[in-house]
Amino acid sequence: MDTKIIILDENNIDEKLIKSAGDAIRNGKLVAFPTETVYGLGANALDEEAVKNIYIAKGRPSDNPLIVHISKVEDVDLVAKEVPAVAREIMDKYWPGPITIILPKRPEIPYVTSGGLESVGVRLPSEEIARKVIDAATVPVAAPSANLSGKPSPTNVERVIEDLQDRVDYIIGGKSSVIGLESTVIDCTIYPPCILRPGAITLEDLKNIDENIYMDKGIESNNTNEGIKPKAPGMKYRHYAPKAAVKIVSGNANKVIEEISSILEREEKLGKKIGIIATDETINKYSTSIVISLGSRKNLYEIGKNIFESLRKLDDLEVDMILCEGIEEKGYGVAIMNRLKKAATFDIIEVY
Ligand code: TXA
Ligand code: MG
Repeated sequence: MDTKIIILDENNIDEKLIKSAGDAIRNGKLVAFPTETVYGLGANALDEEAVKNIYIAKGRPSDNPLIVHISKVEDVDLVAKEVPAVAREIMDKYWPGPITIILPKRPEIPYVTSGGLESVGVRLPSEEIARKVIDAATVPVAAPSANLSGKPSPTNVERVIEDLQDRVDYIIGGKSSVIGLESTVIDCTIYPPCILRPGAITLEDLKNIDENIYMDKGIESNNTNEGIKPKAPGMKYRHYAPKAAVKIVSGNANKVIEEISSILEREEKLGKKIGIIATDETINKYSTSIVISLGSRKNLYEIGKNIFESLRKLDDLEVDMILCEGIEEKGYGVAIMNRLKKAATFDIIEVY
């Protein structure tokens, strides 16, 4: 398949190109586009064939439901059968933005889109190019992250091209994703609503709307242990995973540096190539050249934005193992550690 690559200038968006991308989606084609969380791979959510092609292009298991994207709040009624009051409040406060709301689906949404469920995830992104493309499509747009299944989500167009060139019809590029982690997913088909995937809109944020909102216990479970199963089908897969084995070291800052340094020394003696993911505060503490900083520990948004790209950069260097500093699991740190732990398949050492 010949993939058309279109790079748009954020300050001067070519409306003709947007229209052709929207037409392509409506007519059953696959179109990757930027969003503020990660790049998405879009198709007409109402078109079973087109949605099946998303699963094929990504190599994704088809029991994993897709998020349906809309460009204006009113369109939620095209996708969802009903919108409970608490979901309305979340939409009023956080849309457009990085939160997906699970609602009872309308019959027009095919089961291939909902992964066989009676519910559907709905999202209204804030990224301008995304909204323009969805608007031009004039249909709801099913869009998972635009990576090959199992790879870290792409936060820039180069990574989308790397994964999906020749597998999709269009790739639209804009700026790098400003958030860099996928949206918060909250299930509002039940009361109280339950967070199925942590993201930039945190549990604390949502508790300000309804204090009964809670986090799915299953997101912490390692699928190789007989833990509690995650409620969102997609959360059970080894997502976000680079090729190298990832190990997280978490806890007391000085002890973390000591522990990572000692693993580094031991593994290098065995002839292994090791990459380290550190922070601005610690990057100079390690005696290796293969070390990337996620940013300052004082700015979790910067850290979140750089996780997936850092994992991919270390894969490009073909390291055997990635040693990654942990982040405190508070506020947005919960979402950050959720992605890191999944990349590490829960291989985490705590040092105090
Ligand atoms: O930020 C995002 O949400 C990005 C951008 C492109 O919008 N999309 C994204 O989609 O991350 P995807 O397909 O990679 O992840 C969707 C997640 C999965 O964990 C899936 O299981 C869950 O949302 N999900 C979707 N619909 C659901 C439903 N009806 N019930 C439960 N979980 C659902
Ligand atoms: Mg994904």
